[in-house]
Amino acid sequence: MTTPLLIGMPGNEAMTKSLMPFLGAEIGQVELRAFPDGETHLQFLTDLSGRALIIICTMNHPNERILPLLFAAATARELGASTVGLVAPYLAYMRQDRRFKPGEAVTSRQVARLFSDAFDWLVTVDPHLHRYGSLSEIYRIPTCVVHAAPLMSQWIRSHVPNPVIIGPDSESDQWVSAVAKDANAPYTVLQKVRHGDRAVEISVRNLQDLDGRTPVIVDDIISSGRTMIEAVRLLIARGATTPVCIAVHGLFADNSNALLVQAGARVITSNSIPHETNGIDLGEIIAASIRELAQMPS
Ligand code: R5P
Repeated sequence: MTTPLLIGMPGNEAMTKSLMPFLGAEIGQVELRAFPDGETHLQFLTDLSGRALIIICTMNHPNERILPLLFAAATARELGASTVGLVAPYLAYMRQDRRFKPGEAVTSRQVARLFSDAFDWLVTVDPHLHRYGSLSEIYRIPTCVVHAAPLMSQWIRSHVPNPVIIGPDSESDQWVSAVAKDANAPYTVLQKVRHGDRAVEISVRNLQDLDGRTPVIVDDIISSGRTMIEAVRLLIARGATTPVCIAVHGLFADNSNALLVQAGARVITSNSIPHETNGIDLGEIIAASIRELAQMPS
């Protein structure tokens, strides 16, 4: 087997470097630039012939990333790559998982179709699986899902004395129970009603007393930040001092990191998306899944 070749799409350099030592892989280069009219020029600067190629591309700002990514996969095949795998630590478009209103696009299926045509396999971290039981319901290629929960628990154990784990909504129950169990902490789940993209109402039924504990709110995604902000406000109104917000994927639309800090929170994310709040490094566990899917010796 030839040494695998890792190629990080722009913005994925740090994750690409952190995977390299765990995979015994080489790093190759791709260059992207925009023509004056906005079209993409893409050129591989490394010979791909016969190589098992692993492309790293996290999917925040997905619309600007998807087309260059598809160009990269197709070009790699034309240039003779033996296999082309995708590592998308954050997998976008998973939340539009049904036609909520007549006429809407179910984009999760459409993106899955595009990626299944372009790649041989996919590794991702905690995709938003709410109404799908698994990625295989929409992806036709082998997929592997990395779970950040054990690393989140580890972070909590070493940074937060006396925590209580809080899920902001019923969807977060899967996180909260796993994280709380491993962090050896109690947990509770709040109730959320979403009225719009940026309008969220959070209430609490079963939180008696924080009892001097530090609330740690755990969710998969921070996007507009409204879910976390409303949860932070509610907990501060109940006497919490600095609630900790931990998310796997920090998208931080609308400058929501600053808004969360203003609301009184401390914010921690994994490095599935590069950001100043990254405190949880996924490199080693992503590499383990790549080895499994790409059938590399461990
Ligand atoms: C809900 O479906 C997700 O688990 C997150 O709670 C949600 O995506 C967060 O979005 P926002 O930050 O816009 O409230």
